[in-house]
Amino acid sequence: MYAEGSGRARQAFCEEREAGPADRSGDAAGGDEGEHVVIGRLTRRMKISDPPGRFQALATNVLRASLAAEVVAWVPVEDHEDVVVSGEVVGLGSKALRLLASALGRDPVRMADNPESARAAHAPEAVRRFAVVAAGTAGALIVVNPAEGRPFGSLEIERTQYVASLIATQSHNARVYADLKDLLFGIIRALTAAIDAKDPYTSGHSERVARIAVRLAEELGWPPQKRSDLYLAGLLHDIGKIGIDDEVLKKHGPLSPQEYRRIQQHVEIGVTILQDLKKLRHILPGVRHHHESLDGTGYPDHLEGDEIPIEARILAVADSFDAMSSNRPYRKRLSPMQIDEILEKGRGVQWDPAVIDALKACRMDVEAIRQKGLGESLIGAVDLAIGRR
Ligand SMILES: [Fe+2]
Repeated sequence: MYAEGSGRARQAFCEEREAGPADRSGDAAGGDEGEHVVIGRLTRRMKISDPPGRFQALATNVLRASLAAEVVAWVPVEDHEDVVVSGEVVGLGSKALRLLASALGRDPVRMADNPESARAAHAPEAVRRFAVVAAGTAGALIVVNPAEGRPFGSLEIERTQYVASLIATQSHNARVYADLKDLLFGIIRALTAAIDAKDPYTSGHSERVARIAVRLAEELGWPPQKRSDLYLAGLLHDIGKIGIDDEVLKKHGPLSPQEYRRIQQHVEIGVTILQDLKKLRHILPGVRHHHESLDGTGYPDHLEGDEIPIEARILAVADSFDAMSSNRPYRKRLSPMQIDEILEKGRGVQWDPAVIDALKACRMDVEAIRQKGLGESLIGAVDLAIGRR
């Protein structure tokens, strides 16, 4: 694609079909697009969760179309980041673009408005006119050969400055977002590790419950966002157990009524642990109510039927299924037939019949999920949790 160029450069065509290649005729579809149209098109698509490269590709494409330029390129200050190029001019690869950007020096704008001044700035032969506009400390936006017959003046420069500032803002926000995502990811992983460390015998239970619950939700037709929320609720549903004494939590013999009441408190302790994490507030109903029973004999609030949040009803089935399918110090895992009998007996009494039906419908998948190790699902779930307002 490039006659010249070193380092990484990325073509922006494929990222933004909406803008399409620039119209060189300079008509309304190409060079005379209104300011508000360009700005509106970009700000509507400016997502904090998008990788900076995606928005840079969109912005360079939109700006190129609006100015009917041959090339618009984003040149980041950091060498390890890609130069993003929309359009093509012979000899204008990433190396040449970086050279043009460096000519900016400390000036906010540098313009070469004829081939002679372009040569003086060491631009390749095919570059007749160009402008470089700084975007704070993030990089520079370069416009090359805008539509013939139009003055390369205030409209181009102002529009380029505006788009450059949008790119700089999105890049900064995306970095903050990524840091926040890493932090929340780390917190969730640390909390699930704490549950596993507290009771190694049930290690991996939370991850399995989370995955089984997600599969059941899929069977029930839940959309991806809600399934991700459920995944996090599954991971952290028993977090309150880290607040329960070891001699009670790990006791092999029968529990006294007092010990049983202490164990039951794990759902409330879980809510107490998580309630200050604003981005995880939506999972609290699942954490608090995953031991409720349809007939009102569960805990902590003795909710009945539909009073129990649906995420808690799903978690209850996933939790019980995994517990029955696992060995415990005081018993062997139950056989599939025994599990089926118990589930059928508790259908409509302890568990939501629709969720039991969902489990039956995807039983093979659920068995397979139990065999799998830890996965990458957390990354996507954290993404969606942070994006939540
Ligand atoms: Fe629990």
